[in-house]
Amino acid sequence: MRYSKKVIQHFKSPHNQGQIKNADAVGQAGNPACGDVMKIYLKIKKQENIISDIKFETLGCVAAIAVSSALTDIVKGKTLEKAMKITKDKIVKDLGGLPWQKIHCSMLGVEALKDAIAKYQKNNF
Ligand code: FES
Repeated sequence: MRYSKKVIQHFKSPHNQGQIKNADAVGQAGNPACGDVMKIYLKIKKQENIISDIKFETLGCVAAIAVSSALTDIVKGKTLEKAMKITKDKIVKDLGGLPWQKIHCSMLGVEALKDAIAKYQKNNF
């Protein structure tokens, strides 16, 4: 199994890793097959509905961490509406692909992000 250069870079130096104190929303997703868990913290610019900051904590495999890191880069600065449209395929493409055995790992990021946005919208509309 081989990872792309970009996957290895994100894994070795993840972007936006950690927590946001006083986050506007926190989303979580888990993969029951392997036990990996991911949390997404969002800070939202309320008037424009823009993700002004995003951080993640992932207890998981190389692919799960690379996906989390790439996801945060992709959605930072985007509106919630655009962020909701991000797919796992977009993230996998951005990473230069994932080994087929690891494609399921790309679900975690999108699910945690959507969980966070849904919680934010529930509390703010
Ligand atoms: Fe669990 Fe990758 S093996 S998310």
